[in-house]
Amino acid sequence: MTTENTTQAARGAMTAEFWNTEGGEVWVRQQDLLDRLNAPIGEAVVARADPGPGRRALDVGCGAGATTLDMARRLGADGACVGVDVSAPLLDLARERARDQTTGRAEFVQADAQDHAFEAGAFDVILSRFGVMFFTDPDAAFANLRRALRPGGALVFACWRSPADNPLSQVPLEAAAPLLSQPPPPPREGPGRFAFADPDHVRGILDRSGWRDIEIAPLDAPMPASLDEMMTLSLELGPLGQILRREDEATRARVTDAVAARLREEMRDGVVPLKAACWLVTARG
Ligand SMILES: C[S@@+](CC[C@H](N)C(=O)[O-])C[C@H]1O[C@@H](n2cnc3c(N)ncnc32)[C@H](O)[C@@H]1O
Repeated sequence: MTTENTTQAARGAMTAEFWNTEGGEVWVRQQDLLDRLNAPIGEAVVARADPGPGRRALDVGCGAGATTLDMARRLGADGACVGVDVSAPLLDLARERARDQTTGRAEFVQADAQDHAFEAGAFDVILSRFGVMFFTDPDAAFANLRRALRPGGALVFACWRSPADNPLSQVPLEAAAPLLSQPPPPPREGPGRFAFADPDHVRGILDRSGWRDIEIAPLDAPMPASLDEMMTLSLELGPLGQILRREDEATRARVTDAVAARLREEMRDGVVPLKAACWLVTARG
């Protein structure tokens, strides 16, 4: 990793390099947990996007392919769902999972969806679960995606609402912050998990890149997690995970204790009552 990339990573940047190294590796390791927690959001996106058997779909930032495989099953043997992602480790896992799935055709492409030369008009629908908030130039990316869609085809994606709407996502960072050697990055800086929290920002991007009939509606789902699962999410994934991998062992141990104590305070009936507060965004190309 170059010095510049090391600094970016320490500041929580989620670049292609991040998804091909530590980010991709952690997501692969924790994919079962992530897929279980994120399942209701994936189901909502796939159900809304489903264009019917025999059609072609593009799943953007498909990761390990849970939504690509679900959509492929719906499209059947005459259709196909193509998953595009920058991350080689996540695509390796997606291809492995596709080999075990007997219904539907899922294909995977390693590329940056922002500027990849997709065949024009090749897809009936474009979908994404949490895969479109990482573009460095979102206007260019959504214009590029629109070219890949047949005229009048649908765009359906889920993205996170604000940290204020997802307060439990901030609790571990807040508990850890006083113990870290440098402050964690503000949650809404640049491309990343909360980049699309402001619906006016999302509408502006889609407007400027030529989409119409834009609708942005709340999509909420319970994601109850055990304390162990919440500790894994907090300490391995996301910005705190990135920061902790660069801290020494003593700091990591102190942060682990502080985060566990703080999360215990949030527990109700034996679980951390995590909830996903998202936007379901739809538009026509
Ligand atoms: C939060 S993960 C979501 C993965 C998957 N959609 C899911 O729900 O499990 C974001 C994904 O977007 C991918 N990604 C980030 N920037 C991308 C880009 N410019 N083009 C394609 N994929 C990208 C990452 O590699 C990662 O797999």
